Amino acid sequence: VTTSWAISGVDLHLDVTGPRIRAGLEEALRDSVRAERLKPGTRLPSSRALASDLGIARNTVAEAYGQLVAEGWLTARRGSGTRVAGAVRLPGRHVSATPVATTAPRYDLRPGSPDLSAFPRAAWLAATRRALDRAPYTALGYSDPRGLPELREALAEYLARARGVTADPEHIVICSGFAQGLWLICHVLHGRGRRTLATEQFLLPLTQQVIESCGIGIERTPVDDRGARIAELKRADALLVTPAHQFPIGVPLAAERRSQALAWAAEGDRVIIEDDYDGEFRYDRHPLGALQARAADDVVYAGTASKTLAPGLRLGWLVVPPRLIEEITRVKLLADRQPATLEQLTLAEFIRSGAYDRHIRRSRLAYRRRRDRLIAALHERVPHVRVSGIAAGLHALAHLAPGQDEGTVSARAAERGLALQGLSAYGASAAPALVIGYATPPEHAFTSAVARLCAVLSR
Ligand SMILES: Cc1ncc(COP(=O)(O)O)c(C=O)c1O
Repeated sequence: VTTSWAISGVDLHLDVTGPRIRAGLEEALRDSVRAERLKPGTRLPSSRALASDLGIARNTVAEAYGQLVAEGWLTARRGSGTRVAGAVRLPGRHVSATPVATTAPRYDLRPGSPDLSAFPRAAWLAATRRALDRAPYTALGYSDPRGLPELREALAEYLARARGVTADPEHIVICSGFAQGLWLICHVLHGRGRRTLATEQFLLPLTQQVIESCGIGIERTPVDDRGARIAELKRADALLVTPAHQFPIGVPLAAERRSQALAWAAEGDRVIIEDDYDGEFRYDRHPLGALQARAADDVVYAGTASKTLAPGLRLGWLVVPPRLIEEITRVKLLADRQPATLEQLTLAEFIRSGAYDRHIRRSRLAYRRRRDRLIAALHERVPHVRVSGIAAGLHALAHLAPGQDEGTVSARAAERGLALQGLSAYGASAAPALVIGYATPPEHAFTSAVARLCAVLSR
C-alpha cells in the first residue's frame, strides 16, 4: 500500500509493503523519522485519517502508533495528538567532521553586508503582493534567460537615472548577484579564447576563485590613492575594476585613469568589467557616474542588490555590450535556465513604486551617520589610527599603528566577541589595515561594536 499525505504542510510518501501490514507501517514510520522526512514535533494524521488513506483497519494504525510511542519514536498526548518525539536517538546518523560555523559573532564589523536588520520587510512584502496580484499566470512559466522584461525595463530606467548607465533593456541580464554575473562573463571570455583578466591589487577571495574556475588567469594591478594604476596594465584580455569605490581601499578611479582604461580597452578589442557594487552610497559629493556611460560597447556594467537590499536576495544585473549579449544569454541559459520569477517581479515592482529609491535614501543617511560616528570615535579614542576611503560605500580602511598587526588585533577583537577583517585577506599590502564594514551590525549593536573596536586598537 502506498500513500502520500500532507503533514503540517509536508508531503510524506509512505510505502507500506509486505504481508504484515502493521510491521510494515511501523518500519516505514521509523524510516521517515530516521531520515528526518518527519521532523521532531511534527503532528501525524489521526489513526482514522491515515487508515482511510492507506485502506487498512484503523486499529492497525492505532497499534502501530502505540508501538512507536512505546519505543520512544512518537509521543501521544491528549489534545495534541500523536507527534514525532523531540529527542529521538538516530542510530548511525552522520555527524560532519567539519561542522559549519553557525554561531554569528556577537559584534561584526567585517565588510560585505548592509544592515540586514534594516531590510524593508513591509515594503518588500507589499511589493510581492502587488506583483503577484497583477502577474498573469503565464508569468510563472519558463521565460527569457536574461530575465523578465518588467525588471529589465525598470532597471534600465533606474540605472540611467541613478548611475548614468546607458541601458537598453534588451542588453540587461538578471543574474544571481555579481558572483554569477562575473562567472557568466568569464565563461564567455574563455569561449572566445581569452585567458587573462587584469584585476585590481585587492580582490574578494570568491572573485578570484570565480575567475580562475573559468580557466582564466589573473594579473593584479597595483592600486594607489587614485585607484588602479591603469598605465601599468599589461597585455591582459580584459579588466575588472571597481571605479566608483575601489574595493577595499575606498578611493574612486581618477578621471584620467578612467580615460586611460577606456583607451586601453578600445585599442585592443578588450572588455572592461565595471563592478559597481556600492555605487549608490556616496556621501560627500555627487555620485560618480558609471564608467559604462562613456563606452557602452566596451564596458560590461555589473550591479547588485547585495548592498542596497540584502545579499540573500541573490539579485544582480549586467548591462552587456551588444556584441556580447547573445553569448552571455546562452551561458545564463545553460547555468540555470532563467532567474527566479517571483523575486524579479517583486524587485521590478519595488523599483517602479519608488520604494527602492526611498530605501536607498534612508540607508544612505543611516550609513553616513554611522560613518561619522565611527570616525569621531576613532579620532577621540585612538587618534593614532588613520582612517581612509570614507567618502563612499559601506566600509572604511583603518590603518594600524606601527607595531600592530592584523592577526593580533583581530584575535584580540574575537576575544571580545567582535569580528574584524584585515586588508591582507584581499591581497598583499605594504601596510597593515582593517577593512571596517560599518553597515554590518544592526543599529542597536553599532555603538558597542565601535567601542570594542576602539578598545582593541588602543592597547
Ligand atoms: C567588491 C564586491 N563586488 C561585488 C559584491 C557583491 O557580490 P554579490 O552581488 O555576488 O553578492 C561585493 C559584496 O561583498 C563586493 O564586495
